[in-house]
Amino acid sequence: MLAACGRDLPGNLFALPLTLTRDELAHYVTQDADSLEMSVTAEPLDDGVSLSGVQPKVGVILEGGRYVGRTKMQDTHIIAKLPVVGQALLPEVEELSLRLAGAAGVNVTEAHLEPLEMLAVEHGYDLGDVSRKTNFLAVIRYDRSPDGRVHCEDFCQVLGVMPENKYMGASYLEVASVLMEFPTLGEPAVHELLRRMVVNEMLGNPDMHLKNIGIYYPDGHTPELPPAYDIVAYAAYNKRMGHALHILPPELAVKPKMSVKDAQQSKAAKPGIGPAVIRKFCEELQIPEKPAAKVIRDTVKNAVLRWPDLIASSLLTETQKERLLTHFHAHPLVASLIRRQGKPAELDLSS
Ligand SMILES: Nc1ncnc2c1ncn2[C@@H]1O[C@H](COP(=O)(O)OP(=O)(O)OP(=O)(O)O)[C@@H](O)[C@H]1O
Ligand SMILES: [Mg+2]
Repeated sequence: MLAACGRDLPGNLFALPLTLTRDELAHYVTQDADSLEMSVTAEPLDDGVSLSGVQPKVGVILEGGRYVGRTKMQDTHIIAKLPVVGQALLPEVEELSLRLAGAAGVNVTEAHLEPLEMLAVEHGYDLGDVSRKTNFLAVIRYDRSPDGRVHCEDFCQVLGVMPENKYMGASYLEVASVLMEFPTLGEPAVHELLRRMVVNEMLGNPDMHLKNIGIYYPDGHTPELPPAYDIVAYAAYNKRMGHALHILPPELAVKPKMSVKDAQQSKAAKPGIGPAVIRKFCEELQIPEKPAAKVIRDTVKNAVLRWPDLIASSLLTETQKERLLTHFHAHPLVASLIRRQGKPAELDLSS
């Protein structure tokens, strides 16, 4: 399996084989139960690229105006996320989601829509009914730089949680506690996490699990928060609620005042951001509550001011735009801001 992952691993990581005889190799691979098939090799495969996640994607390099596979000389520095059968315009929805998050103040990864005719790489994915002009999303990797690889790890790795537990292995509070342990992350990184959490709620993205949050080491040893990636406004497809992770671990959860019906609904979904949750979150981290609450308020204000135009001028279908706007306007913080401050255009960002 390691050989199949190749040399092009995430971050600044290499997996190289020990020098073993064929017999020793057979011992480890088959536990002496079988002879070793000739196709089994220890050397990393030349065209191997390792990318996690469930969506169809390939690792590519931009060369001479085309996106090609990695070469012996060069690691991939772009992730091409491909169109998906049954999820109309997914690359367009993800590109818009990243721009919306950016407009709300989140630091987002660089990504561009490109037509499939520019993608010159073999892959085994069924893309369904596409043409040369159908878009894919070219996501620029933050773990590759002109000077070489930048090490990174996701929060499954940081917390020692197995990937299959990426939705249950920890809460956002535990993620934030790790951020608080490093001076280069600390309170500003927690504020950025809060920004991403509220943006996810407003977009209907219940997918910021432990592998969709990471840290990286631009200078080789100091941890920093990389730009946000894999933000998708699922509200454009249907109504989605809740978060990938609990904000507070269940034993600390604050009990919101709600009707029986709401309480039943919220049992299924993980509860969202509200004043009581933020108070407890900050209390546990021993950071002041006021600046954190302001971060959330500002994020919502920016979204209210800027999202409607960005959504209207996007490449989404009219139905998708409508669903996204409806979900956005129904968010309690958005609804209350609009109610209190009148029309979006009159919002005063200085307050
Ligand atoms: N801009 C980036 N730079 C470096 N690594 C990235 C970047 N974007 C994504 N990755 C890495 O690639 C993995 C897969 O990307 P991404 O999360 O976008 O795919 P996905 O298939 O939609 O994921 P999921 O399974 O969460 O739906 C991420 O978990 C992360 O490790
Ligand atoms: Mg992902």
